[in-house]
Amino acid sequence: MNLQNNTILITGGTSGFGYEFASRLPALGNTVIITGRNAEKLKVTKQRLPAVHTIQSDVSKPGEIVNFI
Ligand SMILES: NC(=O)c1ccc[n+]([C@@H]2O[C@H](COP(=O)([O-])OP(=O)(O)OC[C@H]3O[C@@H](n4cnc5c(N)ncnc54)[C@H](OP(=O)(O)O)[C@@H]3O)[C@@H](O)[C@H]2O)c1
Repeated sequence: MNLQNNTILITGGTSGFGYEFASRLPALGNTVIITGRNAEKLKVTKQRLPAVHTIQSDVSKPGEIVNFI
């Protein structure tokens, strides 16, 4: 798997595995986009990881997936 110079979408990137990947992947030249349901958690993550793009979206709701594609 090539982890350099890609655009990477991480569903659930405000904590846990997703956050850890989001915190490391920009340094490898990637554009990183994370999603999550909680707006406050997304805001805090954006403050901690300014290079990461955040989108509020619930992957269990098809309409919210379609909205950001
Ligand atoms: N930690 C482990 O050791 C481990 C081991 C095996 C498997 N897993 C599985 O791996 C997954 C991630 O684990 P984790 O420890 O990284 O979990 P975590 O710390 O709870 O992180 C979950 C992330 O997903 C987001 N999220 C949850 N439901 C969502 C939804 N419907 N739509 C969009 N985002 C959603 C959360 O943000 P919001 O709440 O704001 O949406 C958060 O950013 C889980 O399914 C877990 O069961 C974990």
